[in-house]
Amino acid sequence: MTWAFGKAILLGEHAVVYGHPALAGAIDCTLRCTLRIREQPGIGLLVPSWQLSVSSRDDHVVGRALRALAKILDAESLAADIAVDTALPPAAGLGSSAALSVALVRTLALATDQILSDQRVAELANHAERCFHQNPSGVDVALASRGGLGLYRRGEGMTPVDAPPIRLAVGLSGMPRRTADMVARIARARERDRPGTESDLAGLGNAAVAGKDAVIRGDLVELGQLMTRAHHTLARLGVSATELDEMVASALHSGAFGAKLTGAGGGGAVIAVAQERAEDILTAWQGRGYRGFVCNLGAKT
Ligand code: MEV
Repeated sequence: MTWAFGKAILLGEHAVVYGHPALAGAIDCTLRCTLRIREQPGIGLLVPSWQLSVSSRDDHVVGRALRALAKILDAESLAADIAVDTALPPAAGLGSSAALSVALVRTLALATDQILSDQRVAELANHAERCFHQNPSGVDVALASRGGLGLYRRGEGMTPVDAPPIRLAVGLSGMPRRTADMVARIARARERDRPGTESDLAGLGNAAVAGKDAVIRGDLVELGQLMTRAHHTLARLGVSATELDEMVASALHSGAFGAKLTGAGGGGAVIAVAQERAEDILTAWQGRGYRGFVCNLGAKT
């Protein structure tokens, strides 16, 4: 069995694609793969919680990622079924595709007797991630493979932040979206020189650095304020949605230190820093028809 973590970005999504830092951590919601050899040729993949069943021969985005990995890892002649067990919701901004990519790399390497360094696992998983969205910064894969909490910068990798785990309430809008579409939306705004885009992205990166300092000091009030401000910046950049704004307002009303969309936005999830108020926030979301869960950010291997 192999596994990988889901993740949540506290501050800096989208900005991180353009070289600004992001503050992010692995969550204690994981994805596990089990491999069974079979007679039929090809590699089958079953993810019951995502109602997903594909094969490496299918013309499906996950099938293509699986095929690409099997090719690089010289596992194309493998005849096997991979079963995936996870509570991570798909397409919600919580790193499901990166967790799947990392766990698949580890599974195919194990099945073909290859020992890979963490760095090689991340490189190959990023290759698969490019099937899901064209221009990944690498932050999701870095956390899926190694866990922890840190400040990530494209090209430099993750600088770990030593702090106790942060309790988060995670709210699900129920609206799936494609990360690639949301990343493309910001890319278009940059190409068109939409006023304020560059300074908003730089501001999100600066907030990630300030958030890191707040986390090290244990100042969750300051962290929360930075997060709520970042949500408004992301909304201005065009990657929020009515449902996400509603969940953020509801979390703040229920006593969160701060709340924001997490990941690419446009749908997906909201996170709220709440410590002991996390359950109240979930109850308030449920009252508005949104599911959610509580998790710890900063999960380690
Ligand atoms: C996706 O989890 C976060 C984005 O910044 C894209 C990326 O970093 O690859 C929107």
